[in-house]
Amino acid sequence: MLDPYNRPINYLRISVTDRCNFRCTYCMPAEGVPLKRHEDIMSFNEIAEIVKAGVQLGLKKIRLTGGEPLVRKDLPKLVKMIAEIEGIEDIGLTTNGVYLPLFATQLKEAGLNRVNISLDTLNPEKFKKITRFGNVEDVLRGIDAAIAARLIPVKINFVRIAGENEEDETEVREFCEMKNLQLRFIRQMNLKTGEFDAVEGGKGGICEICNRLRLTADGFIVPCLHSELRFNVRELGITEAFRRAVNLKPEKGIGTESHEFSNIGG
Ligand code: 5AD
Ligand code: SF4
Repeated sequence: MLDPYNRPINYLRISVTDRCNFRCTYCMPAEGVPLKRHEDIMSFNEIAEIVKAGVQLGLKKIRLTGGEPLVRKDLPKLVKMIAEIEGIEDIGLTTNGVYLPLFATQLKEAGLNRVNISLDTLNPEKFKKITRFGNVEDVLRGIDAAIAARLIPVKINFVRIAGENEEDETEVREFCEMKNLQLRFIRQMNLKTGEFDAVEGGKGGICEICNRLRLTADGFIVPCLHSELRFNVRELGITEAFRRAVNLKPEKGIGTESHEFSNIGG
């Protein structure tokens, strides 16, 4: 799939749930997000059908996101279903890491290649404040589980939150060097105003080379994080939804009122 600006679209980020076991202040309101109706959430079969159709159009790379993808039941099963689709070359997972000690080995066996784990500070009190009830120790155990399961390279996402964690950067940097983790810095984004930056150490946020589409947990293909456009696969059919998303993918993002990070997975 080439979009109208000649960008090859080969990467789909799939949000498998809006739910999360944390409530990071930059991502969700304290009370969490309104629960979607069960019947609106894509089944694993529907997701696999969407990926299959996407592969026919040039999709090669998948990332599973949330919310927190590991709160969705049987996630390794979905990974296996996607890994078995011919043409998929890479499957990644973006997670807060808490459930990795339970699932890392199963995920690896199912065909997951690698993980990105969010870690915005190593300071336990600050970590609790940012995530509203998380324990940094749980994440550290998750990181070790990912390394042990060879879900590598393990990447760490550090969201720079103004006035909150700037001074923790050095400690996280040293921790990552010690553990051989790749660290990426993300500036806190505001989807409403379209404030965003290139991801330092990653490829996100650079419109000229953007190769991605997103799929929401309730079945919308979203061509750009910073636009209102979204195409429902159940209403339009999978191929038509892909086609419209690619053909109408904006050259650059502008602000949007409709997306929250919890339904789009960063
Ligand atoms: N700004 C930047 N990144 C965000 N994420 C979630 N909310 C935001 C935001 N407001 C990203 C972070 C986190 C991942 C789950 O989503 O990178 O690690
Ligand atoms: Fe959950 Fe990640 Fe959002 Fe934090 S940023 S609330 S861990 S989905």
